[in-house]
Amino acid sequence: MMKKFLAFAMSLAMVFSLVACSGGPSASSSAAGSASAAASSEAGAPAGGTDGKLITVGFAQVGHESDWRTASTNSVQAAFSKDKGFDLQFVDCDNNSAKQLEAVRNFIQQGVDYIVIDPIVSTGWDTVLTEAQSAGIPVIVIDRTIDDSDKYVSWVGSEFTNEGLAAGAWLKAYAEKKGIKEINALVIEGTTGSSAQIGRTNGFKKYADANGWKILDSQSGNFTQDGGQSVMESYCKSYQGKFNVVVCQNDNEAFGAEDAMNAAGVKYGIDGDVVLISFDACKAGLKEVLSGKINADFQCNPLQGPFCADIISKLAAGQTVEKKTYMKEPWYVSEDVLTDISYTNNAGNDVTEPLIHVTQDVVDKAY
Ligand code: AHR
Repeated sequence: MMKKFLAFAMSLAMVFSLVACSGGPSASSSAAGSASAAASSEAGAPAGGTDGKLITVGFAQVGHESDWRTASTNSVQAAFSKDKGFDLQFVDCDNNSAKQLEAVRNFIQQGVDYIVIDPIVSTGWDTVLTEAQSAGIPVIVIDRTIDDSDKYVSWVGSEFTNEGLAAGAWLKAYAEKKGIKEINALVIEGTTGSSAQIGRTNGFKKYADANGWKILDSQSGNFTQDGGQSVMESYCKSYQGKFNVVVCQNDNEAFGAEDAMNAAGVKYGIDGDVVLISFDACKAGLKEVLSGKINADFQCNPLQGPFCADIISKLAAGQTVEKKTYMKEPWYVSEDVLTDISYTNNAGNDVTEPLIHVTQDVVDKAY
């Protein structure tokens, strides 16, 4: 009975998604989607099954590679608690794509009511999503995107290309303000093939190409502190005295890069010779922004659990859901020299967005 109802809800949602998906994302639609989901969760909108039974949800999480990931796991586990009407089965896939596909197949075999996936990589999904669809199990994707299949009901996450574009726009404006004439950048990328790595790389590269910046090297640090440190150690040897910008695609890589630069005697941050840019803006990252070691940090918002639970509650109640919901993500800076940045976002809209000057209060409120 529950399965039949779910299949009906899924087909309704799929029909609606064709409408919801037809336009590109815009800053205003992102914010609106986030706000409405938050509002309904905070107001205690009905969660769980309509018949009083717990809704079973299988969640195939990426792993445990970063502070961001810990915040994401906590957010989903809190939103899918038993007292909110859910029975959550959580699998940490340890950044292993084969393990993640196996976890999803196990959820299908168990016959859970819904499957939530945070895809490690953006491709290779169509077969297993077809299997879920045939079993009548709706799939919700969070955080990273699936780019080679449309067989999921809804996605909530970040516009990673906009994060990269914003970093580029900030660096251009900052360099102009500070009289920095040449940019020689080293990039430490995230996990290869993840939509977070692809979007941030492409967004920043667009600015580099348009402004004649040199990207001396771009290697993966796998979104980990150890990875960031070992890539930066090798960069410090190969490019000694030749770089003035380091872009780390998450905070943990930036912490590792700092350790490597400290050991190599490289001065970075607002009083140094190297501008350090990061993504995520977790509490530990914003502490580094406050102390001036990281110049700018572009938030990736991990608090997606309530939005995801809201989507599932709506599906269970037979309601339609948005195909895509973008998280609201502010940009943080160490120095109070620029108030905002303007750029053309990934949807082709010209936007002007504020830069938040980090204070202790901002750090205290961070995730
Ligand atoms: O997919 C989100 C990214 O994955 C975050 O930037 C990073 O910290 C995490 O590991």
